[in-house]
Amino acid sequence: MKLGVFDSGIGGEAVADALRKTFPDAEIVTVNDRANVPYGGKSPALVLRLTDAAIQPLLSGKCDVIILACNTATALAIDALRQKYPAQKFIGIEPMVKTAAALTKRSVIAVCATKATLASDRYKRLVRDHGAALRIIEPDCSEWASLIENNLMNRSHIERAINTVCEDGADVIVLGCTHYHWIKELITMLAAGRAKVIEPSEAIGRRVKALLSDA
Ligand code: DGL
Repeated sequence: MKLGVFDSGIGGEAVADALRKTFPDAEIVTVNDRANVPYGGKSPALVLRLTDAAIQPLLSGKCDVIILACNTATALAIDALRQKYPAQKFIGIEPMVKTAAALTKRSVIAVCATKATLASDRYKRLVRDHGAALRIIEPDCSEWASLIENNLMNRSHIERAINTVCEDGADVIVLGCTHYHWIKELITMLAAGRAKVIEPSEAIGRRVKALLSDA
């Protein structure tokens, strides 16, 4: 089995690490777009163009599945890519609003994601379908992907955002950008006793299994 994993930057490596644990015998190829990261402030048309260009090695490398391990690229590009490459299987990543809705006891959740993801039609649909009864706090994380990519993220920056959403009542925090998987442990520690922190690495493994067993 050959899995292709794409992200704008190092978020994809976090997802690939999780996939390697679930599928130790799989060949896992990662590509990123370091020249253009971050995608989170870019227009939908540009994200589509960049993602399409960046995944070409995965398309020509005949991956059984290409995983867009990027919430932003999924939100803005996956529909068009599925149309353009109908023979290729794709899996995307979306903020786990549905899971958060099932977990929250206070009906208040926080979604940490890029501006482009939060502004996308796909995210709005997700909220309409699964989060209509919730209050959703969307803290400003617009600098996070860059800071994480360049290893400049500091604890005080994260602490401020996490304290704010917890004090505002969120009891579930959704990591809606794969870059943030690298700071999950710290966020979990900062939110301990106040909010659960969720991200989709395990769900992606399950989705890969389901998709390939359907084949
Ligand atoms: N890791 C990406 C995501 O999941 C995006 C980060 C960025 O390029 O802004 O949304």
